[in-house]
Amino acid sequence: MGVSFEKIDGTILIDFETRPSPNPTPEEERAAKLTDLGFGRVFTDHMAVVHYNQARGWHDARVESRARFLLDPATAVLHYAQEIFEGLKAYRRDDGGVNLFRPDANARRFWNSAERMAMAPLPEPVFIEAVEQLVRIDRDWIPGGEGSLYLRPFMIANEVFLGVKPSSEYVFAVIASPVGSYFKGGPAPVSIWVSENYTRAAVGGTGAVKCGGNYAASLRAQAEAIDHGCDQVVFLDAVERRYIEELGGMNIFFVFDDGSLLTPPLGTILPGITRDSIITLSKQAGTRVREETYTIDQWRADAASGKLREAFACGTAAVISPIGKVCSASGNFVINGGAAGPVAMGLRKKLVDIQYGRAADPHNWIRKVL
Ligand code: PLP
Ligand code: COI
Repeated sequence: MGVSFEKIDGTILIDFETRPSPNPTPEEERAAKLTDLGFGRVFTDHMAVVHYNQARGWHDARVESRARFLLDPATAVLHYAQEIFEGLKAYRRDDGGVNLFRPDANARRFWNSAERMAMAPLPEPVFIEAVEQLVRIDRDWIPGGEGSLYLRPFMIANEVFLGVKPSSEYVFAVIASPVGSYFKGGPAPVSIWVSENYTRAAVGGTGAVKCGGNYAASLRAQAEAIDHGCDQVVFLDAVERRYIEELGGMNIFFVFDDGSLLTPPLGTILPGITRDSIITLSKQAGTRVREETYTIDQWRADAASGKLREAFACGTAAVISPIGKVCSASGNFVINGGAAGPVAMGLRKKLVDIQYGRAADPHNWIRKVL
């Protein structure tokens, strides 16, 4: 069966062909896998795939068995890293239904990432349809309790050509992974290593988009963090090497003694959807939120004086994780005595309650898939 992308009154109709796996994971095996979830090691039975070439545009949309990609050794992505991705989650509600959280925001960021990386942008409805279809066919893989189904849409340059230029062919796919907590200790405070040797992004670079290369370039710094007994690395700006930017895979917030919040401004950091949601929820509750620069020296001084009450990391994978300890070559300091603070934990509950459908959704962030 073919696939139709028709434009009627500006509406794009997408017809995904569904080919259910002939060998789905037996129920008992699936249940066993769902009992021991960390992050990103267990995968569902299916994937969504859509192809692009210049002659046909986006075509051949399918939901099919999760399978290996067959790539020619000269495939462009393997050489020049023309690759982008997204991360969002499906949450099981108490009534058995399933929520997505702001998938339209992920689709828009994916579009922006594609434009920055000179890739073929994927229409928002195709992105959302692919995600929804995968969630529906693999719904039995969505863990109960505080677990969720992490969805990983991504796109690779698929042209077989060694010249350095934007690829003329792409593959967009979505895979799904049932997950528990990103950090081993759940929402327990994490420790952060300040990267003084490596930076993540410069003005005019790719820091504001979600391309694989950003993460490849962060791994050495993250390894340094692990070597120093820390959970995550925090990057400083690439010019003055003193302004806090973000963590390897999360944005960051600071909480002060007057109750206000501060988070680094957009520009060279990823515009996190969790970051944006926290800003909206906090402002709605009457909290002052500044999107302003903040230096590592000020952070250390404010932690020592008590002006800084809390700091926390946030992202789809990490949700909201309090930061208990900051380590660097020039010394360590603790925040809030190393304990989780009430602002981080309160915001975490507020956000998670909306995501799981336990609280009202005044901003229309939830999209019910089932
Ligand atoms: N910053 C980086 C570098 C990330 O990888 C992520 C995770 O996606 C975030 C921030 C947080 O973004 P979001 O809240 O949209 O998941
Ligand atoms: C996410 O939170 O979705 C990310 O992509 C971050 C990554 C470190 C898992």
